Amino acid sequence: MSRKLWEDVDAYFESVLIGDDPALDAARKAAAAAGLPDIAVAPNQGKLLNLMARMIGARRILEVGTLGGYSAIWLARALPEGGELVTLEYNPKHAEVARANVANAGLADKVTVITGAAIDTLPRLKGPFDFSFIDADKQSNPDYFRMCLKLSRKGSVIVVDNVVREGRVLDTKGGDANVEGIRRLYEIMAAEPRVSATALQTVGVKGHDGLAVALVVAD
Ligand code: SAH
Ligand code: DHB
Ligand code: MG
Repeated sequence: MSRKLWEDVDAYFESVLIGDDPALDAARKAAAAAGLPDIAVAPNQGKLLNLMARMIGARRILEVGTLGGYSAIWLARALPEGGELVTLEYNPKHAEVARANVANAGLADKVTVITGAAIDTLPRLKGPFDFSFIDADKQSNPDYFRMCLKLSRKGSVIVVDNVVREGRVLDTKGGDANVEGIRRLYEIMAAEPRVSATALQTVGVKGHDGLAVALVVAD
């Protein structure tokens, strides 16, 4: 199967199920114009995050890794009146682009972008969060997962992006900190009695990658 076919199918899903979305299109354009890397979630993935947050009635959402705010807009749109999204970003330029994109999407009142290394900013947050999306530096996934779990409650959901990386997740040779971060994440998820977790491979405009999903089953 070819990457071109995966991309065509994603384009079809976007056109048939999502359609034009001025705020999201503008956010992608602004991020590209500012020189940010083109690594935001795909439109159908963004909508999946939005639907998952709505399925559990999330009122407080935590994101680790904001980039230009594309996934943040999808997630913040899932929130009811009075809900909030806290999103953590290391790069001040990314955070600035994200704040502008979020404001342009009419979501400034619901979204707080906190600048700094997530390992430093996560401990300052007050839980519980109903939904967490981990999508920053992959070698720190184990730390982010543990900290997000600490900020969760029974019934919370934690989603982690980029957990397959073209199959590099199978690489047991070591030496790639990102792969080791992903493999360690699975070990922690499997050993942690407070969560029940699974993972899915995905293909599409993001290549061959995947998402891990954990449900917090006990406080
Ligand atoms: N969730 C975004 C994409 C995030 S890309 C979306 O789908 O739209 C990963 C982001 O994590 C980048 O902006 C990068 O600067 C940020 N990042 C990398 N290391 C980080 C760290 N230690 N703490 C917080 N953010 C970090
Ligand atoms: C990269 C990071 C991501 O979060 C992603 O979804 C795709 C690629 C990267 O750092 O290459
Ligand atoms: Mg990602």
